[in-house]
Amino acid sequence: MDLDDAPAVPFLGDALPLVASDPRWIAVALDDLDAVHADHLHCERKAAQSALSLIRSYPERSGLVAAMARLAHDETRHVVQVAQLMAKRDQTASYDHGDDYAKALRDHIRKREPERLLDRLLVFAVIEARSAERLRLLADALADPKVAALYDSLAIAEVRHRDVFLSLARDAAPTTWRARAVELAAIETAILVDHPIAARIH
Ligand SMILES: [Fe+2]
Ligand SMILES: [Fe+2]
Repeated sequence: MDLDDAPAVPFLGDALPLVASDPRWIAVALDDLDAVHADHLHCERKAAQSALSLIRSYPERSGLVAAMARLAHDETRHVVQVAQLMAKRDQTASYDHGDDYAKALRDHIRKREPERLLDRLLVFAVIEARSAERLRLLADALADPKVAALYDSLAIAEVRHRDVFLSLARDAAPTTWRARAVELAAIETAILVDHPIAARIH
């Protein structure tokens, strides 16, 4: 199947049953694109750092090391692309003031191994899936065709990253990963309900 023919909302797949974003989010985002891009730059940076942090923690897992090295490379390219977009808009980057959404998810990562590895992989899969959904919403709504095309390519990449994390989770915990993915998807729903709708990726 050609990537362009992929379902528009594959993040609703059975392994990670996330709910759709509040329909008000896209209007809030379009109303302050500078804020969205400023946040997005740091999302991509943090995604690269998270992938590299897994290499630091699990160097003995060669499949994980190779996958995370490639993923960090992708995310770093995304940082370049978002920085270039911001430069075209005469927008400078700003400090990262934190991400309550990601922090709330990370609070559910269990402390002891091997559960810790599974939870880190699944939390990253959730963040990739939510990012993919919102980048897709932006791609479909942005008026500038070049910027929309950029967001289309980024949304496709984040879906692929979600699946990289899910397949690593499956390899790490073949009998328990599906049940834990469902649990974390429900946790993410509860976090989103509590989370303000803002001009940010999360
Ligand atoms: Fe990315
Ligand atoms: Fe990603």
